[in-house]
Amino acid sequence: MLQECDRPIGVFDSGIGGLTVVQEITRLLPNEQIVYFGDTARVPYGTKSKESVIRFSRDNMNVLLRHNVKMVVVACNTSTSWALNILKREYAIPVIGVIEPGSRRAVAATRRKRIGVIATPSTVNSRKYEETILRMARGAKVFQKACPLFVPLVEEGWQEHRVTEAVAMEYLAAMKKNGVDTLILGCTHYPLLKTVLQKVMGRGVTLVDSAVETAHEVQNLLEKQKLMRQNQHPPKHQFLVSDEPEHFRVVAKRFLGHDLPHVQRVVF
Ligand code: DGL
Repeated sequence: MLQECDRPIGVFDSGIGGLTVVQEITRLLPNEQIVYFGDTARVPYGTKSKESVIRFSRDNMNVLLRHNVKMVVVACNTSTSWALNILKREYAIPVIGVIEPGSRRAVAATRRKRIGVIATPSTVNSRKYEETILRMARGAKVFQKACPLFVPLVEEGWQEHRVTEAVAMEYLAAMKKNGVDTLILGCTHYPLLKTVLQKVMGRGVTLVDSAVETAHEVQNLLEKQKLMRQNQHPPKHQFLVSDEPEHFRVVAKRFLGHDLPHVQRVVF
């Protein structure tokens, strides 16, 4: 029988973007084993309603539970916005999202308490980042902006393309005018745009990558609950998707810089 701590960590996302979170978890915790589920049949979540995102998030949890995971990381910002509290209540294993860790980091980093959040339209509509930041830093000013074109630009591989830079200048103009000193990348795909975003915002603005902060949160939780994997055999990660795996593999290579060995299609 597998010891409880040797069970894998489950990570889900609406599609491919959650691999940025997987990358940070495996960098920080190389002995942990991961089961990743990307709901590629129903991506994007960022333009969907609250009700749909909650229903999809429950389905994703159920897929991961069939793989005997010890905890779940909701890597998708949109799912975290609408469904994290519900999933925490409904499931017996620990569930963590990406909004608290990213917000905490931003609050620690800001000098003038002027924090920007860029995210999908659905995440922005939920106002979850704003609510979380204001709970942590009363009196802070939060400026949000939905940037729906960033996701397809990243998936196209146009991370540093001049078109992406032009789009970023358009999206971020008001943010700059408002004098934010810290910008939260509130969507799984945006860490891949760091170079362009830093250039557009200027060197004085701190970019907060939720993926990095979330990996630290995973580490804290595993330590606190004595759930760190003890097995010393190299971990074998598993990648699951709800649509055909080929496209996922192509875009994953763009995200990770290397091939994913096995991507399997699952049904709900
Ligand atoms: N994973 C989503 C998020 O972080 C971005 C992609 C989508 O819209 O589904 O919000």
